[in-house]
Amino acid sequence: MDKLIKNCLTTMNPKILRIIKIVGRKADQKNLKTYLVGGIVRDVLLKRNNLDIDIVVEGSGILLAQEIAREQKKKLIIYPQFKTATLFWSEDIHIDFATARKESYPFSGALPVVAPGNIRDDLFRRDFTINAMAISINKDSFGQLVDEFGGLVDLQHKKIRILHDKSFIEDPTRILRAVRFEQRFRFCIQTHTLNLLKEALKKELFKNVKAQRYFNEFKKMLKERDVVLCFKRLIQLKALSFLSPGIKINLPLLQQIDKNIQNLRRVSSRVDPSVDLICLMILLERLKPKALEALLSRFNLRREDRVAIVESYKWKDIETKLSRGHLKPSEGYLILKPLSQTTILYLRFRSLKRIVWQRIDRFLKNDQMVKIFLTGEDIKNLGCTSGQKIGEVLDNVLYEKIDGKLNNKQQEYKRAKELILL
Ligand code: CTP
Repeated sequence: MDKLIKNCLTTMNPKILRIIKIVGRKADQKNLKTYLVGGIVRDVLLKRNNLDIDIVVEGSGILLAQEIAREQKKKLIIYPQFKTATLFWSEDIHIDFATARKESYPFSGALPVVAPGNIRDDLFRRDFTINAMAISINKDSFGQLVDEFGGLVDLQHKKIRILHDKSFIEDPTRILRAVRFEQRFRFCIQTHTLNLLKEALKKELFKNVKAQRYFNEFKKMLKERDVVLCFKRLIQLKALSFLSPGIKINLPLLQQIDKNIQNLRRVSSRVDPSVDLICLMILLERLKPKALEALLSRFNLRREDRVAIVESYKWKDIETKLSRGHLKPSEGYLILKPLSQTTILYLRFRSLKRIVWQRIDRFLKNDQMVKIFLTGEDIKNLGCTSGQKIGEVLDNVLYEKIDGKLNNKQQEYKRAKELILL
């Protein structure tokens, strides 16, 4: 085994190493040449943790996955149209199996036409040299690196390089991927690759890709730790116009995100915001309403994300309501309650008014969790039969509790009786 790889494999997560050996053993029994490929190989060589195991088989990937799933009693999902399968090893570890394949693209941005191939074919269809390496996991050749395109040297020289000149034409989502990997690893997009990337941008090749597909790749960028660096690079390359023509990004605000993202991440353990969605809100906030509407329908966002973005767009109005001089906690509650947690955090981040921060913090840490002792049944037992009235009484008891007027069940009862009579 190559000394370098041996060295890297020994620093690999032992759980992953054990799983790979199990897969390799089964592949030997079935006489199938089998490899670890893609991102995990890159990360093994960089000694970075990666729990996404991608396996490519010269032969049927599905067959090998089925054998292992049966033997190890693991859940398996098969995608026959792609000749792939995902095996769920544990909660955090899953293994993707694929059959080695050759790809050709009928036109730019199209989904590729696929035919069976060998490991070289399979690596050649990939985005960048650093992602186009494989490690054999069969026993006889365990740990041998397959590096046909100079991935290892590029990794050592910190270069992002495409494998052939048509790479961005065939798959323009690679424009976003190049920036993402460049910023994540602090690498550099190699000069020729960068020239081709700029050409692809000039030709607006991303228009050939289904908006949804391009956006999915963009969302991966939003999840990066160094999302701000990625955006700065995209702005520098004028590569954000796919979002909306002539989009204007608030750069100073973007630069503030770094610090605030850390804060949001700290809050996030309590309220689970989507930091990626907050970044998107910032990117979109200078769009005109019509452009925003067009973007939201083109990218087919999840309903709740759409709603949150539309809410965030009106953050100034919410801020005005929240900064009123005399506002009871229950009034703040009524303003914030209908909004998504992400919108609220966005507002917390966006507003410069201390009073707004205080009211949001009170809502997040306290008021939104307040529960009353009384139930609808209790109100019915007090002689109230109208459903609407029961709801109103319960709501009012809750608001008064938020305002600190009711401290125990007896007080809630007493107040409910009065409210029924009103
Ligand atoms: N790939 C590609 N072109 C794309 C998408 C993916 O060639 N447009 C290949 C790359 O070889 C990549 C592999 O498929 O390594 C897996 O894709 P993905 O999971 O998106 O990338 P990773 O490299 O695993 O990135 P990450 O570390 O962000 O998961």
